[in-house]
Amino acid sequence: MADLPVIDLTGLRDGTDAPGVARRIDDACRRVGFFVVRGHGVDPAVPRRLDALGRAFFALPDDEKAAIAMARGGPAWRGWFPLGGELTAGEADGKEGLYLGEHLGPEDPRVVAGWPLHGPNLYPQRPAGLADAVRAYLDAVTPLGHLVLRGMARGLGLDPDWFARHLTAEPLVMLRLFHYPPVPAGDDRWSVGEHTDYGLVTLLWQDDAGGLEVRGPDGWQAVPPEPDAFVVNLGDMLERMTAGAYRSTPHRVRNASGADRLSIPLFLDPALDADVRPVPGLAPDRPADDEDDDERWDGRSVHGWSGTYGDYLVAKVRRVFPALGDAVLDGEVAGGAGPVAAG
Ligand code: OGA
Ligand code: NI
Repeated sequence: MADLPVIDLTGLRDGTDAPGVARRIDDACRRVGFFVVRGHGVDPAVPRRLDALGRAFFALPDDEKAAIAMARGGPAWRGWFPLGGELTAGEADGKEGLYLGEHLGPEDPRVVAGWPLHGPNLYPQRPAGLADAVRAYLDAVTPLGHLVLRGMARGLGLDPDWFARHLTAEPLVMLRLFHYPPVPAGDDRWSVGEHTDYGLVTLLWQDDAGGLEVRGPDGWQAVPPEPDAFVVNLGDMLERMTAGAYRSTPHRVRNASGADRLSIPLFLDPALDADVRPVPGLAPDRPADDEDDDERWDGRSVHGWSGTYGDYLVAKVRRVFPALGDAVLDGEVAGGAGPVAAG
């Protein structure tokens, strides 16, 4: 089984070898759509602290966690959901989660405009310090996402600030804490079913349990835990804007380690009103029919739709949290006919 590319970002961060790092990123994005980054500049104490506090939260009784149940987050899509509460590709996942994101107050124009998926985080009473640890994590890892996008822009032959200028000046930043209880031996259910991510880049911190798998060029392969490294993978918008040259790679999780698994994905996505289109001149390096619509995990092509990122994302959210969709997401999204009715 081939290893995933491991890329040291030091030369991109300090400018000593930006072209070289960008070339390695570009190659990984074209071949696999998944890679591991080191030399990322994030103090490992930051994810370790959030990991520890996340474990303490998930160890609380469900009754207590339900005080911040996702239903209370309304259209902001924040809060806790219990084991089996999220459906990927129509099947309940073997995970529970706490949904967070960039914390936006009532005065933020996107909140004023009634944009879904934007708003305040819901924090539990216990453990103390979780809110601080989330803020520290967002402050440390969001810039890493922008750094990776600068590397990709260079690799694509675009201005290094291309993403910042066109899609991520005011990105949608979502953060999740996931707890995966061990899957018993012989149980073939997935902790997270096969799927692709929706936006631009996902930066994943995982503990040492393992169980993440990606569908690489030679079939399914493990993404083994690497201490203090982040796993980077590409979302559907990168695949769309590169006309398929970059891959939004299917992945899935089964925690067969016998112990609890904790992971922390951060999703750096375009603004909801961004109209993400193929960028002229970025020719795909594979035939257009390489992956036709039927082969995708949910049978939907990322190349065939048109609309804003918000339209795309809200349609996806409805599929994984149907009750949430019915309760709070009805209406038009940013860039569409008007604000969504809150709550
Ligand atoms: C996701 C995802 C993997 C993991 O949240 O989209 O693929 O290890 N997570 O939690
Ligand atoms: Ni994913």
